[in-house]
Amino acid sequence: MDQRRPLIAGNWKMNGLVADGVALAEALVERSRRHPGLPPDAAAEVPPDVPAALPCDVLVCPPFTLVDRVLQTVSGTKIAVGGQDCHAEASGARTGDVSAEMLKDLGCRYVIVGHSERRADHGEDDRTVRLKAEAALRAGLIAIVCVGETEAERDAGQTEAVVARQIAGSVPAAATPETVVVAYEPVWAIGTGKTATPAEAQAVHARIRAELNALLGSDAAARMRILYGGSVKPGNAAELLGQPDIDGALVGGASLKAEDFWGIVGAAK
Ligand code: 13P
Repeated sequence: MDQRRPLIAGNWKMNGLVADGVALAEALVERSRRHPGLPPDAAAEVPPDVPAALPCDVLVCPPFTLVDRVLQTVSGTKIAVGGQDCHAEASGARTGDVSAEMLKDLGCRYVIVGHSERRADHGEDDRTVRLKAEAALRAGLIAIVCVGETEAERDAGQTEAVVARQIAGSVPAAATPETVVVAYEPVWAIGTGKTATPAEAQAVHARIRAELNALLGSDAAARMRILYGGSVKPGNAAELLGQPDIDGALVGGASLKAEDFWGIVGAAK
């Protein structure tokens, strides 16, 4: 774990009008400026031009409509901003789509690809996800490649086989620990309040790392971050993040409340 700095990423999904997004980003900026370990009062703040050291990397992924405003709001802090999806191509006749180059141009550093909601709602298969991840690398973004089994697959005992297949099909051959993060999000745990137990999640993360080892070699596999996602909250974050192969969290619902999201940031050490 030492060689992998934790990443706590908020996926806001399709939530927030401009005022909501700016207010949430402002609340995160305010928390990011406090010295860790000191009480949350004015005296504990550092000047805005001296960002406090955070215990981990922190990322928010707002909907496209909010990306620019959130980037402006977090400017000068250590909070990174990413997109929730990108097209595989750089530009062209792709009505409604946004390219990785466009996100990079705005100032994004990351993009999520292959979220189960994209796989299910937009028919994205592993190849599509890999092409999107490759686009992210081409544009200079870090791709967060999502994998995870459905409840039916889990009940059929196929979790590890499904996840291994998704990793093999979705992670670019050129992936490095600097350019790709994997997120394991069991579909049945997303937005349901059900979470994999820390031991269950750890077992799948270890399987993912073994698959990365086969694909990318032992050095890359040892250094690549694997996030857990699915009903992560302040109350369960520390135990999940304490597992040896869980290197951070991809947080949906709890990322919409600054206090909850920052509670999860605080659980990452
Ligand atoms: P929840 O945290 O709301 O379960 O969502 C997880 C998720 O899908 C993050 O990408």
